Order: sequence, then C-alpha cells, then structure tokens
Amino acid sequence: MNFNIAILPGDGIGPEVTTQAKKALEAVADVFNHKFTYNEALVGAIAIDKTGNPLPEETIDICEESDAILFGAIGDPKYDNDPSAKVRPEQGLLRLRKQLGLFCNIRPVQAYESLIDKSPLKRHIIRGTDISIYRELTGGIYFGEKKLSKDGKIASDGCTYSVEEIERVAHLAFKAAQNRRKHVTLVDKANVLETSRLWRKTVTEMAKDYPDVKLEFLFVDNAAMQLILNPKQFDVILTENLFGDIISDEASVIGGSIGLLASASVGNDNALFEPIHGSYPQAKGKNIANPLASILSAAMMLEHLGLEEEAELIRRGVDKSLKLYISTPDINTKFDNVTTDKVGDFIADFVVNPNDTNLNFQNIHLGQSTII
Ligand code: IPM
Ligand code: MN
Repeated sequence: MNFNIAILPGDGIGPEVTTQAKKALEAVADVFNHKFTYNEALVGAIAIDKTGNPLPEETIDICEESDAILFGAIGDPKYDNDPSAKVRPEQGLLRLRKQLGLFCNIRPVQAYESLIDKSPLKRHIIRGTDISIYRELTGGIYFGEKKLSKDGKIASDGCTYSVEEIERVAHLAFKAAQNRRKHVTLVDKANVLETSRLWRKTVTEMAKDYPDVKLEFLFVDNAAMQLILNPKQFDVILTENLFGDIISDEASVIGGSIGLLASASVGNDNALFEPIHGSYPQAKGKNIANPLASILSAAMMLEHLGLEEEAELIRRGVDKSLKLYISTPDINTKFDNVTTDKVGDFIADFVVNPNDTNLNFQNIHLGQSTII
C-alpha cells in the first residue's frame, strides 16, 4: 500500500530519533511491499530560526495532505530561559494539535520485563503494569485565555471545557477499555475545579452506554501518589490536558526511561505520532539519545494505518533489542557504548530478519556484526 507520511523532526534530538524511526519504516516497506512517501517540514525553534514562525503555513499544508505525521521533539533552552519571548517553539506543536483537531492523546505505559531493575521503583510494584493514558489534547488550560497585567504583576490562564470536548475523548477511552481490562479511571480535581465537575458529570452519563466498563474517579493529587504506590490498579486513565501531561511523565518512571514512551495524537481527520519526551538539547548530535520512543511511535502509526502485523514486528524488535542490551546508555545496564544509530539499525534489521540468531545480533556490541 502507499502512504504519505509527514515528518516533522523539530528540535534537539528530534531529527536523530525520527531518522531511526524512518529506518524501521523503510524496513517494513521493504518486507511488506509498501511505499511510504516522506515529506519533511519545519516546526519549533528550527522553524523560528528559518522562517520566524514555529508553525509555517507550508508545514500545516504538508500535514493536512498526509496520511499520518511523525513528529520528533520540540523546544530549545534559549526560549526556556527567556519567559518574555513572544514567539516560542512549543506554540508550533500546540497550534498544530489545535489546527488538525488532534483532541485525543494516547500514551501507553508498560513495565518491560528486561528493564524492571532500571526503574527506581520496586520490582514487585511495577511488574506487569500496563496502562493506557487518554489525555485530552486541544482544550483546557493550555488553550484558555492568557492574561498578563500591564504592570506585569498579575497573570492568569483560563481553563475551559465543553461537554462535546469531554465526550469525544471519553468515547475513545471507553472503547479502548472495552478491548483491554474494561476499567476507566477518570483523573480530575472535582473537589476544587468546575471543569472537573463537568468532566465527572459528563463521563458518568456516558458510562451508561458502556455497561461492561467499570468507571472510577480519582483526584489528580491522589492519582499521582497511586501511580507510584500501585500502578497495576490502572487500565485506562482518562484525563484533561494539563493533568495528562504531568502524570504521563510521572508514569514514564515505571517503564524505566522517558526515552521509551510513545504517543499517538488522533483527531477525526488526522493523526500525529510522537515520543512524549522533549528535545533533550544536551544530547543533540551526540548519537546517544534513545530512539525507541520514536520507533514505538512509528509502530503506533502503522497500527493506525491498519498495518497491525507490521507494527507488531517493530514492537517485537524493540523487545528483543532490550533483551540483548542493544539500547542507549539511559536504559542499558551492561554496555555504555550503544549509539542511537545502532539501535535503529538493529530494529530495522530485526524487521527484515526476525528469526536471525541472538548470537549474530549480540555481536553488534563487539563491532563484529555483519548485519550492520
Ligand atoms: C508533551 C509536551 C508538550 C505538552 C509541550 C512541548 C508543549 O510536554 O507533549 O507532553 O505540554 O503537551
Ligand atoms: Mn509533556
């Protein structure tokens, strides 16, 4: 099959990790006879440098014409340390989400058996964790009215949600739960926030249409604690934009590294796939960044395009790379010299030769491999 893929590498390590994801996609194209046509476009700090705009019109056009978007990372320290900057890289991503209507962000979190000891959390607590976070992505405080008083001494950010915005993401969360362990936890702050009370009311109403799914509620402060105390209690977590942003970074500790967490941002007409990590500017160009979140995002993209078997093959490749310690230093407990490139090469090679021997793959560490 033919697909048009928009690639938005963005800032920092974004270009390096999306290059590895592309390698995996090319291997899939070869093995399964697909054709992926890639169109690269600018976003973020690099887009500001080149065009003055974090989301140039041309980028939006390329995304709208694509079947799916692979996104790298966004952000640059020169803006983080300058709160008065009017134009910011992150605006590129936020506008893109809004413009394309990507209202639902799905973030799977699992404890990989081979990485369990990498997490600072105890083995018996995290083992077997399998959570899918459904984060609302185009509403709430991220997109409310922002104000700064003339004297610069008072600021506010408005948080607004409509029933319609809540329903569309909640439907997807309920449906996902039906195919999983049939349990949705709505994370909110309904003891304080009016918007959270609207979430509870709306989602409670909707639950009647999903009688096979158990719905529970948790205040976000408690949820933050429960995620670390007993993450296995969660199946699907449904939550609003800001809470989802925060608890998904927290949840990444369960998986051993934020460098592993992939995500899908879906709307009615478009879908974008990106790691949940940031641009990690300290690692830029050093060939040490973990490409697995980007590669797993590519797998989520394949699944979205209906290519289940292809996605599964990439995921198996990732599992194998972890088992064989073909992974970057952030998660590697045995070798500290496995580069971003090598991980990408390994996954691509696995897609082509999934039944090759472990021995052959292990030689990669010694630079004796004949496959890369
Ligand atoms: C994320 C990121 C973004 C967000 C930033 C870069 C705007 O942290 O995707 O989680 O806050 O949504
Ligand atoms: Mn985030």
